[in-house]
Amino acid sequence: MENIYPIYDQMMTREDKETLLGQRGVMVWFTGLSGSGKSTVAMGVERELHRRGILCRILDGDNIRAGINNNLGFSDEDRRENIRRIAEIGKLFVQTGIVTLACFVSPTNEIRQMAKEIIGEEDFKEVFVSTPIEECERRDVKGLYARARRGEVKNFTGISAPFEAPEHPDLSIDTSQLSLEESVNEVLRLVLPTIRQS
Ligand code: ADX
Repeated sequence: MENIYPIYDQMMTREDKETLLGQRGVMVWFTGLSGSGKSTVAMGVERELHRRGILCRILDGDNIRAGINNNLGFSDEDRRENIRRIAEIGKLFVQTGIVTLACFVSPTNEIRQMAKEIIGEEDFKEVFVSTPIEECERRDVKGLYARARRGEVKNFTGISAPFEAPEHPDLSIDTSQLSLEESVNEVLRLVLPTIRQS
């Protein structure tokens, strides 16, 4: 941080932006296995919030890894850096008053704790998409579980790399038990009260 002088005091504030938008910013952090339904639920939530006039932004693993994080792989160190950058980017959106939906495997308590600390606890809602691995593997939307079983994908979460379930998520949803509409409604129930300005 030597020779770095961030300026914030002359910029328009978060409150200015939230007043402009008529909403509060929040980070909704979806964690869960590949194929658990994080992005599908987030897209449903985005659609519903957008319909209610609320500005949202989805940040998604495959998209971010195709762009800003295209130099990162799946070692512990790279996953940590992946989540660190995403949390910093997410914080910019949240502080612009935008409802931000982050969809990342984010497989460890430590990584998720780091994201929460960067973004700020009061702006962070953790949603565990708890769909069992058997169902994720049965879906195998991207064919990655089959490849991981054949040993063609190293460090694959749930197969050859760990996934730690969150201990105290704000919400758990199992998309093998709930319909998409039900899952979306659960998330809306969690976040709508925090978004609306009183
Ligand atoms: S994280 O662990 O760093 O949070 P992230 O959510 O960005 O992961 O990326 C996960 C996505 O990358 C998966 O949905 C899957 O499509 C793809 N992927 C490719 N290789 C792996 C791997 N070894 N482990 C997990 N996901 C992988």
